[in-house]
Amino acid sequence: MTLVLLATGVLTAVPPPQRAVGQDGGLSSRLEVEGVRIALLVSPGQVGVNRFLVTLADGDGRPLPAERVLLGFDYQEQDLGGSTASTTAGAPGRFEAVGGFVGLPGTWNVRVAVGRTAGPDAEAVFKLSVPDAGRPGLIPAPTGAAVDAGRRLYGQLCARCHGVTGFGDGPDGVGLKPPPLNLNAHVPFHGDQQLYRFIADGLPGTAMVPWKNTLREDEIWALVHYLRATFKEQEQ
Ligand code: HEC
Repeated sequence: MTLVLLATGVLTAVPPPQRAVGQDGGLSSRLEVEGVRIALLVSPGQVGVNRFLVTLADGDGRPLPAERVLLGFDYQEQDLGGSTASTTAGAPGRFEAVGGFVGLPGTWNVRVAVGRTAGPDAEAVFKLSVPDAGRPGLIPAPTGAAVDAGRRLYGQLCARCHGVTGFGDGPDGVGLKPPPLNLNAHVPFHGDQQLYRFIADGLPGTAMVPWKNTLREDEIWALVHYLRATFKEQEQ
């Protein structure tokens, strides 16, 4: 292993944010650096163990052999110190690594450093946005303090439409189409992750706007815990 990430003479490209958040097919993105087409596929593209497949091609799309490919991982949301991984060569121009390099949801810079047999080394940085689905361990505990925080937020932000009792009868909900849902009837049908996504991402085409730019993650979880603790199936 003589190839060092960020070694002198390495070509670096930081692309305009290139991220494709796939549903099942994982995350994939491609970049061209000095005639080398570098594609990165991350599957399943979620927190935990992922397969990182790097494919290299020349300007005409033909597989481009390389001596080795190294990966570097940097979490953009907070400083975790970064980590690196080597890859295993498969068919010409294909390199693969499997491991739990992406341990948190959010934006990661994945650095792909290519040591070439012929021609200059190349390096590209991919921005990957890792969704927070499927990692129950990340849900903060529904402590009494979290539920209390959720109750306060609900009263300030949500009750005006959904109503203090959750029946969808808040003053600002009058006349909305579709109307604010009765949370007593709906909350029991959704898992915590799903409720988190409804609140964070909103429901397009309705008065339920996304809250993720207004509220922190822990505040959204506090709301989820409050909804769970409060709105159970009841007669109206
Ligand atoms: C301006 C009015 C309004 C506000 C404020 C509002 N909502 Fe909503 N909300 C709606 C409407 C309308 C819908 C129903 C959309 C639909 O029918 O698909 C909805 C849907 C939802 C759902 C989805 C329920 C389901 O089963 O599909 C949840 C959960 C929810 N809101 C929670 C909240 C929380 C928590 C807040 C406060 C942070 C909030 N809402 C603030 C109007 C509002």
